[in-house]
Amino acid sequence: MKKVLDLITEEVKGAFLACGYDEKYAKVTLSNRPDLCEYQCNGALAAVKEYKKAPLVIAEEIAGKLQESEIFSSVEAVKPGFLNLKLTAEFVADFMNGMREDDRLGCEETKNPKTIMIDYGGPNVAKPLHVGHIRSAIIGESIKRIARFMGHKVIGDVHLGDWGLQMGLIITELKERKPELVYFDENYEGDYPKEAPFTISELEEIYPTASKKSKEDAEYKERAMQATFELQHGRKGYQALLSHILEVSVTDLKRNYKNLNVTFDLWKGESDAQPYIPDMVEKMKKDGYAYVSEGALVVDVKEESDTKEIPPCMILKSDGASLYNTTDLATIVWRVKDYDPDTFIYVVDKRQELYFTQVFRCARKTGLVKPETELKFLGFGTMNGKDGKPFKTREGGVMRLEYLISTINEEMYKKISDNNNMSGEEARETAGIVALAAIKYGDLSNQASKDYVFDIERFTSFEGNTGPYILYTIVRIKSILNKYKESGKSAENAAISAPNSESEKALMLEISKFNAMMENAFEETAPHKVCAYIYDVANAFNHFYHETKIMAEEDEKLQASYIQLLELTKRVLETCIDVLGFSAPDKM
Ligand code: ARG
Repeated sequence: MKKVLDLITEEVKGAFLACGYDEKYAKVTLSNRPDLCEYQCNGALAAVKEYKKAPLVIAEEIAGKLQESEIFSSVEAVKPGFLNLKLTAEFVADFMNGMREDDRLGCEETKNPKTIMIDYGGPNVAKPLHVGHIRSAIIGESIKRIARFMGHKVIGDVHLGDWGLQMGLIITELKERKPELVYFDENYEGDYPKEAPFTISELEEIYPTASKKSKEDAEYKERAMQATFELQHGRKGYQALLSHILEVSVTDLKRNYKNLNVTFDLWKGESDAQPYIPDMVEKMKKDGYAYVSEGALVVDVKEESDTKEIPPCMILKSDGASLYNTTDLATIVWRVKDYDPDTFIYVVDKRQELYFTQVFRCARKTGLVKPETELKFLGFGTMNGKDGKPFKTREGGVMRLEYLISTINEEMYKKISDNNNMSGEEARETAGIVALAAIKYGDLSNQASKDYVFDIERFTSFEGNTGPYILYTIVRIKSILNKYKESGKSAENAAISAPNSESEKALMLEISKFNAMMENAFEETAPHKVCAYIYDVANAFNHFYHETKIMAEEDEKLQASYIQLLELTKRVLETCIDVLGFSAPDKM
């Protein structure tokens, strides 16, 4: 379906042309004075220069022409030359029926589907997920869903941090504790055990212990570095340990992400990129891009237009070891080889922006990607506590994701069991659904690049711009629809009729922005636009609901039209929360 704004613009263009003006002046926008009109056009003011006429004169001519239009109920020329536009009730109702009859609610799939690779999540193996990782997962998941909804082919890759010193640290600490394990015996020839020699909770304790020791004990760190080196150079026992670490860790990560309703198509990690490094480096050298500077191998990435210094991209350290950069570049190599994406999106902490500028420029310059490939860095801000500092536990420790989720779950459970007579188990389940909405909406409703305050009280509130408020609105609609059904009536063949009240029209006008909003949210990789839209729809719905007798309406035809409008509102809201990555319960 065409967008409302485009339909209006076409109509206004016709009038400009008919009156002898260039159609480029027919630019229509949403009204910034909703008390006066729904849409507006300021083109008459812009046309003054070319036509040397008073703006109001031009505006009046256009308004005169538009009196014949079937889509406007009123067109007013007002000083100094604005055109104030209101749509007819019939036009708005027709648009609603068009949306209702379409399974995509009037939002067309793209005609040029792209292959998009999204790099998000980015957890580090053997380290528990902490709140720093939650944003990447939540935002990336939503962007993936929005892009899929628009008809693109999207591949989500978790890009595990499974390479480097952290692995050597774990191996070293394990050797301290259980030196007798076969993994440490260099002469061992047999198969390694299937079962990992540690559980996830042991693993999560081993890593921080080792990390702490390495900071205090230089000799210990030396050993960990040696273990890392040997692992990376193919020592069999260590590689078997790496597999165990991955397996145990990934099982736990999957469970955690499942609780967040986040899924990945690929579970690749930094280690998967390693085989691609030697050839890549060789080619960079051969093509003359990589050169040795102070012992290290680097590629210059500064550009003339830079206003600040962009340091060279380091490819290999002076000892020949690869770095975070090397891995990211080699990851691009296999992603291009296996998936040939048109677009790469990285959802990573915005503090890594300079780093990604270097990586992207290096990838372009050295021809790892085609010139037309899009490389997008979506940097997100920090999730802060009420004190404005990064969110911590009450004791000041790093907040683990699981702990955060269970805190919100508990809060929600209290509210839900206080609010109604739901049984224990049902209340638990509902609390889980609502808690997830509270967390995700609290995050996604902010522009990703901004820091935000994670305010448990506000996020779990049933009022205001919150996830629970949106769910509450959906639940309210579901309950009316159920009552209607229980009364034995059916609105199945009814159409939505022209709005009867200002509040009903206002609801329809909000709903009608769906297709334009979704397209825009995709183009700008901006889930917060979906949140802003559903907040407006929910507000408009609740206003309509408070002013309208729906169940008590005696005119059955009118009542059936209301029911259809409710169905449509529900579908729109549910489609939106689905792309945000959460769902609504039946009761709450
Ligand atoms: N593991 C990294 C971290 O915890 C994030 C990875 C981001 N993605 C990437 N391709 N570098 O900081």
